Amino acid sequence: MAKLRLIHRCTECAASFPKWSGKCLSCGAWNSLVEDVEGPEETSATLAAGLALVPAGVATEISRIDASVGRPDPTGIGELDRVLGGGIVPGSVTLLGGEPGIGKSTLLLQLLANWPGKSLYVTAEESAQQVRSRADRLGALKDGLWLLPEMSLAHIVKAIDDISPGLVVIDSIQTVVDPDLGSAPGSVVQVRGCAHRLVQEAKRRGIPVVLVGHVTKEGGLAGPRVLEHVVDTVLAFEGERHHALRMMRAVKHRFGPTNELGLFEMTEAGLVGVPDASQLFLADRRTGAPGSVVVPTIEGQRPLLVELQALTNQISSGVPARRSAQGVDQGRLSMLLAVLERRARISLASHEVYASVVGGVKLTEPGADLGLCLALVSAATDTPLAPDLVVVGEVGLAGEVRQVGHTGRRLAEAARLGFARAIVPMSAPEKVQGISVHRVGSLNEALTVAQLPTA
Ligand code: TYD
Ligand code: MG
Repeated sequence: MAKLRLIHRCTECAASFPKWSGKCLSCGAWNSLVEDVEGPEETSATLAAGLALVPAGVATEISRIDASVGRPDPTGIGELDRVLGGGIVPGSVTLLGGEPGIGKSTLLLQLLANWPGKSLYVTAEESAQQVRSRADRLGALKDGLWLLPEMSLAHIVKAIDDISPGLVVIDSIQTVVDPDLGSAPGSVVQVRGCAHRLVQEAKRRGIPVVLVGHVTKEGGLAGPRVLEHVVDTVLAFEGERHHALRMMRAVKHRFGPTNELGLFEMTEAGLVGVPDASQLFLADRRTGAPGSVVVPTIEGQRPLLVELQALTNQISSGVPARRSAQGVDQGRLSMLLAVLERRARISLASHEVYASVVGGVKLTEPGADLGLCLALVSAATDTPLAPDLVVVGEVGLAGEVRQVGHTGRRLAEAARLGFARAIVPMSAPEKVQGISVHRVGSLNEALTVAQLPTA
């Protein structure tokens, strides 16, 4: 094992320093530096060497490099494969982060049960009996799935040697300890030191390892933030506990894109992929309600119909008007309110404004701008939009409607779900079967087409 050296790491921004100081020199946070360890093996050349991609330090002609080495193996869990860009790469280390109770252990047990050949589940939190009874519920009792209740790093590595599994899951990395590292279990030194060692073992054997990392609402000390540099892939597993929907995103991914969204539903029989997400998001929609707009958005490669809702309420003067944004960017909401006031002469200055995306989805693309504007005006004027209408387009500061990508795919998804009309930017190139398209160049035109009152 390569020598680890003691450093001090900022828990806010993950920058490292040889000496402790009261203030992080990178992000300026106070009292955020904690002891940590760092090894020389964190360079990408040695990581690539571990994966047998190219020999480290040797120049090779590009055509001679074998592209099939390091290809992902499908996991058989469609939504996970979608996020990972095909599957798990041999020798890679993936961190699955999420709040307690979100379903990390459930998903990984399903992953192991689906894995062809031998696999090892290290449970450092729950007893073997607890895991076994969960496996019963999930139908995950499979030959070749080995279970190890163990917290000691040395014993875990020995078990990997003895069993030679094709996939290892460690649940969770926060409860694994290496007495040689000193420091308390769960501390940054322990968590990163143990993760380091597991990364080396994974690369050396060419087997994939998945680490579970708990995060608290605030991001969590000794949690995924401090591990991001050590692992190849960081997956964030999110959702609202009282809601069955779970979303998975890659926060970091060395082997593919990070923009794909995976969707699961927590059921009696564990996590089930949601291939038809639009249907799910629109299931509870009440048509004819003012302030509701359906927006065809794109998540990675996937078109997704989501409902945007707005509510406005006149308040007495002198009280600051509240603006609340859930699932849409607060700054974007403020900007669109300003554009509505200056370019469409619709002022919501004396109104409190609430905007939210239904189903816990986050809309980060500007393609949702026009939908949000129409939702706001629809809410403020108590005028519902047509039930069969979808709206897409970016809104500029001059009140112009700007083009967005993948209009064709968005509209095809809308047509598939029975929407008959769409308001789209002027430049929208594609014609789509089954949906009639209204091209608009400005916010005011869009308001007219949507039959909303204009000033
Ligand atoms: P779990 O995988 O233990 O969460 P984590 O490992 O992220 O802490 O899942 C916890 C929740 O999932 C728990 O509230 C019970 C629920 N659950 C189901 O609804 N169906 C199931 O089949 C299983 C196994 C769990
Ligand atoms: Mg768990």
